Amino acid sequence: MSALQSKFTKPFIDIFVLTWDFGLFLLNLVLPPSPPDAVVPAGAPGHAGHWPPYTPPGPNDSRSACPMLNALANHSILPHDGKNITFRRLNTTVRQSFNFAPSFCFFVPAFAANFLGRSYWTGSFDLADLSKHNAIEHDASLTRRDSAEVADQGKPDWELVEELLEGATGEGGRKLTKADLSRALAKRRVECRKRNERYSESLFHNGFGSANSSTMLTIFGGSVDDLRPMLTEERFVEGWQPRILSRFGLTMAAFNGTVLPVELGVKRAKIE
Ligand code: HEM
Ligand SMILES: *[C@@H]1O[C@H](CO)[C@@H](O)[C@H](O)[C@H]1NC(C)=O
Ligand SMILES: *[C@@H]1O[C@H](CO)[C@@H](O)[C@H](O)[C@H]1NC(C)=O
Ligand SMILES: *[C@@H]1O[C@H](CO)[C@@H](O)[C@H](O)[C@H]1NC(C)=O
Ligand SMILES: *[C@@H]1O[C@H](CO)[C@@H](O)[C@H](O)[C@H]1NC(C)=O
Ligand SMILES: *[C@@H]1O[C@H](CO)[C@@H](O)[C@H](O)[C@H]1NC(C)=O
Ligand SMILES: *[C@@H]1O[C@H](CO)[C@@H](O)[C@H](O)[C@H]1NC(C)=O
Repeated sequence: MSALQSKFTKPFIDIFVLTWDFGLFLLNLVLPPSPPDAVVPAGAPGHAGHWPPYTPPGPNDSRSACPMLNALANHSILPHDGKNITFRRLNTTVRQSFNFAPSFCFFVPAFAANFLGRSYWTGSFDLADLSKHNAIEHDASLTRRDSAEVADQGKPDWELVEELLEGATGEGGRKLTKADLSRALAKRRVECRKRNERYSESLFHNGFGSANSSTMLTIFGGSVDDLRPMLTEERFVEGWQPRILSRFGLTMAAFNGTVLPVELGVKRAKIE
């Protein structure tokens, strides 16, 4: 019943969400930005840069291929064991903690519910479920070796993270730029194609790979000092706040302005 329902309603939901997203994009252009201390709302964890304490995960805790979601669990903003999280809670938590637009915060968890064959409205998941290969998780990531090499996608590879951050050229090496990110992605795609005989790449996953990593430039403003603890320990630094101050958060439409140049830059970096 729900599969049938989603087959017929999904295109309408997608069009609705994109229209909604574009409306928010326009509103963000005319409304003044939030003051930095109001971006994470009062009462929510992380308000004014005060993040709840973190505890390293135990052997049974579930973690995903997404550094930022793991950080939410490490700080117990999502359940610390990373299990039995409702898709609706993921929406609310990502909205509050990172100031992504509500359209994005519905779209991505709904996308995940869909590939897991569960209902967005009533379903739940463990963080590790999100690492299903070639759903969102893909080869040539910046912080994880390919799943053919390392089965546990829940942990970052510190060597890869260092390589990425050492490639930062902005402000004397303190800021990652679009060109840095394009170069890093191009390098990973070439490297992984060589060493992983089960390597796969698609336009779809390249686009999302660029989208996923572009959050480092938007939400984190490319700051190497903020990204290092986030990507190695999957931890918020005390005082960190989202760099996007727009009233309705980072819309998919605005995000495209970063993602497309990064992805196009990958092609250029490959030729050079
Ligand atoms: C809303 C729910 C979200 C879901 C379901 C999700 C899921 C995922 C998954 C499965 C990956 C692995 C892709 C790969 O193989 O590289 C990933 C990567 C990533 N995600 Fe998320 N994510 C979400 C939200 C966020 C947010 C809010 C941020 C940033 C503030 C973020 C930042 C990233 C980054 C930077 C990567 C790339 C890591 C790498 O290349 O190794 N994600 N995400
Ligand atoms: C957060 O979780 C990741 C993934 O399991 C782990 O590698 C990291 O050590 C944890 N960090 C903290 C501060 O708990
Ligand atoms: C982890 O799960 C196993 C099997 O369910 C259990 O025996 C063990 O006590 C758990 N360990 C922790 C630290 O909770
Ligand atoms: C998952 O959480 C729901 C409440 O949100 C609860 O009713 C259910 O028992 C939980 N399931 C497990 C396996 O813990
Ligand atoms: C998503 O979360 C927001 C709270 O940030 C809530 O107002 C909204 O109803 C939720 N949307 C859905 C579709 O669950
Ligand atoms: C990461 O990629 C998935 C699909 O592969 C996409 O649904 C999601 O929007 C991306 N996340 C971010 C934060 O860009
Ligand atoms: C972003 O760009 C991609 C590729 O051109 C397009 O498919 C998508 O609809 C755009 N998203 C939004 C919200 O504008």
